[in-house]
Amino acid sequence: MNKTKQSICIIGLGYVGLPLAVQSALKGYTVYGLENDMQKNELINAGKSPIKEAFLEINLPKVKIIATNDPSVIKKSDVVIMCVPTPIDEMYMPDLELVRIATKTITENFNPGQLVVIESTINPGVCEEVIEPIFAKAGYVVGKDYELAHCPERIDPGNEKWNVTNLPRVVGSFTESGLSIAQKFYETIIDAEIKPMKSIREAEAVKIMENSFRDVNIAFVNELAKSFDRLGIDIVDVIKGASSKFSFMPHWPSCGVGGHCIPVDPYYLIERAKASGFDHEFLKIARKINNSMPEYTVELMQDALNKVKLPLNGTIVGLLGISYKANIADLRESPSLQIIKHLEKHGANVITFDPHTPTHSTEKSLDEILKKSTAIIIATDHKEFKDIDPVIFKEHQIQVIIDGKNCLDKLEIEKNGILYKGIGR
Ligand SMILES: NC(=O)c1ccc[n+]([C@@H]2O[C@H](COP(=O)([O-])OP(=O)(O)OC[C@H]3O[C@@H](n4cnc5c(N)ncnc54)[C@H](O)[C@@H]3O)[C@@H](O)[C@H]2O)c1
Repeated sequence: MNKTKQSICIIGLGYVGLPLAVQSALKGYTVYGLENDMQKNELINAGKSPIKEAFLEINLPKVKIIATNDPSVIKKSDVVIMCVPTPIDEMYMPDLELVRIATKTITENFNPGQLVVIESTINPGVCEEVIEPIFAKAGYVVGKDYELAHCPERIDPGNEKWNVTNLPRVVGSFTESGLSIAQKFYETIIDAEIKPMKSIREAEAVKIMENSFRDVNIAFVNELAKSFDRLGIDIVDVIKGASSKFSFMPHWPSCGVGGHCIPVDPYYLIERAKASGFDHEFLKIARKINNSMPEYTVELMQDALNKVKLPLNGTIVGLLGISYKANIADLRESPSLQIIKHLEKHGANVITFDPHTPTHSTEKSLDEILKKSTAIIIATDHKEFKDIDPVIFKEHQIQVIIDGKNCLDKLEIEKNGILYKGIGR
């Protein structure tokens, strides 16, 4: 176990696994990527990133990553890192099946002495209750035949300041030796603090706590936005005012919370705590509030159209932005998908445009969607939308704008005679 680590196998080359693979290769490791999606593998092996992201687009062509769907690459590796998805189903129930499958694949291609690290987001208890038992069933003893660690990823795709190279990490393991090996390993890859945790359960809890913290704070401002809408108060101005207090940490309301982390991870804790007899009332309410925002956004559209004497039924509503976050193409849990459903339920004629997801857009360009629309919802604060001159909306005879990200200039839009409504402003 103490030999210098030279080969790494990363299982799952997605938003988490691929940047880690590239960074590990930049640091001199031989990197295998075990990835089911052969189209992704072809691109990666040709030095092309399947994800539009600056770090990947710059660095992937500089390194060699051996991407394959052949699990025998696990055997060739000193360190095996799992980066597979941990989604929820339609009933918001955590689904650990991909973690189970990947763990079984490791045990079937196991090499004694390996360090196995789980980077996927998991609830407290998964390493002890799900992963270690699969190894035990295959006859492998943790701390003797292998080491098992958890080092949750914190990557924020599209973030220009924080990426895989400089994001501090926490790490937890079953044994002191496992903790020390895992910490030293990550210190060779990441140029930031690798903080050791007392147990693997604590490391698992850190990630869930971080994302639940974001979720409840966003739910708080989303609830205030709904309240301030009734009171005629601009929440954006209020948050800016409150930010002048030393202890205030601004969070911003919007048309919904999307992505593979914040609207997903709290459910992992809610369900695991429930199994131990604890009811996470606060986290459940936060999820309920945040899940209500797409429908609320459509209610705002309906009210605004009423004011200009138009029905939602039959009106052409242009949805600007389908991905869940600015300047990226990720559609997972995107509020836009819910907004489309609610608009269509009310009979609106919905057309869409997202420059980052052209194959999911009904329209080919910004000009095309503005030309056809009577009303607009901004669902993603892509740069291309924030930069629109309000005069352009007027020229295209847009009557109503619902700004689901509060990213446009309210006064300038109103000056152009357009009915503007933000979320809480
Ligand atoms: N996306 C983020 O911003 C982010 C940030 C921090 C943590 N996470 C966590 O990291 C984990 C991975 O998320 P992601 O966004 O990278 O997912 P992703 O869907 O982008 O990538 C996962 C990849 O794993 C592959 N895969 C799944 N099972 C496999 C198997 N058995 N063998 C080989 N390949 C397999 C899939 O084909 C996919 O390409 C999740 O637990 C997520 O919660 C994600």
